[in-house]
Amino acid sequence: MASPTVISATPPGQYDVAVIGGGVIGHGIAWEAYRSGRSVALIDDAPGTGASWAAAGMLAPVSELHYQEEELLALMLEASRLWPGFAAGLGEGRSDASGTGYRTTPTLAVGADAADRQALADLRGVQQASGLAVEPLTVREARGREPLLSPGISCAFDIPADHQVDPRKLLARIGELLARDPRYTAVPRRAAALRWEGGRVSGVGLEGGGEIRAGETIVANGLGAAGLQGLPGGLDLPLRPVYGDILRLRVPQALRPLLRCTVRGLVRGIPVYIVPREDGTVVIGATQREDAPSDPGAVSAGGVYQLLRDAQQLLPAVAELELLEATARARPGTPDNAPLLGRVARSGTGPDYEGLIIATGFFRHGVLLTPVAAAVCRQLLDGETDPRWAGFRPDRFSIRPPGSSAGDTTPRDTATTERKTA
Ligand code: GLY
Repeated sequence: MASPTVISATPPGQYDVAVIGGGVIGHGIAWEAYRSGRSVALIDDAPGTGASWAAAGMLAPVSELHYQEEELLALMLEASRLWPGFAAGLGEGRSDASGTGYRTTPTLAVGADAADRQALADLRGVQQASGLAVEPLTVREARGREPLLSPGISCAFDIPADHQVDPRKLLARIGELLARDPRYTAVPRRAAALRWEGGRVSGVGLEGGGEIRAGETIVANGLGAAGLQGLPGGLDLPLRPVYGDILRLRVPQALRPLLRCTVRGLVRGIPVYIVPREDGTVVIGATQREDAPSDPGAVSAGGVYQLLRDAQQLLPAVAELELLEATARARPGTPDNAPLLGRVARSGTGPDYEGLIIATGFFRHGVLLTPVAAAVCRQLLDGETDPRWAGFRPDRFSIRPPGSSAGDTTPRDTATTERKTA
């Protein structure tokens, strides 16, 4: 990460940067903006309780590669490259993996039956074509590394580049570091609307009244982004909830260590992962549901059954663990599974609206992509644009170019937005 360059000289009540959303992405962006010397307000009435609370924290560009997502792979690899420095930057004065649970232990991909073996071998072909290291192991070699793996698994592959972090620790650590400095303010309120002034975004209106004024506002509140009032007219943020059930379990002393590596399995075509933490717990995840539960935090009984059944098939000792927690949250999905990241053009070809950056839609990859989202936002704050990430512009799904028919700076909901055009 770059070193601080900007010295903040903003009046009281006015911030250089307002970040809407206190998940891993919002915190990562706030941290990087703060490190650049800017004053930062992070707005969230329940920080860290959304998708970040559920996330297993796999940093897995290789095993998360999906067919026809090569551009996303480039972003994931850049994030992977940034992770060691990002974690080190949080580790000042600590010896325990920066207090974030960041670990560079490898991942093993394993299959349950012959069809899973074929599917993982086919995927390996795609991974290798993208220059990624995925090495086959015999079942015996895999069990030499992880003795508790079932002898019945059909195949195993070593993926050394896929690592992990503990998202809850990551959030706590960034929050702790930021809270030390008066240049940072946590605003425990819900953002209601973007505020506009002189044709640019000037800050954030808060639910129940009040506002945060900022030179730059970064919308990083996941699924909540699409419901924010005052987004530019014509901007379509096509976010949809993709629910995941995930379990946390304690490993009895007699079974420790249950695993050293993260295990990603395919069981009759269904993915499951088992992520061992240093504290003797494991995380087992995660389903993907696009249903509409009555309560967004409701855990699916079928999902829990599926996770335990499939994890136990790969690792029979799972049946002997103590269930600590079952959690469900929604990931913010997009039509192409890629984030909505960048500035918004006033028309199909720009110029961009000033004072506004969007950073949402990270779907399955929010934790992995945190450092690169932070770096991209930092560049945009500095007035730079990296052409490699042009394909992730947040206006790419907007059929009508933002602002094209309603006047250049008309926000989507003028009723709830103060706007004083220059
Ligand atoms: N990143 C893994 C998941 O979303 O389940």
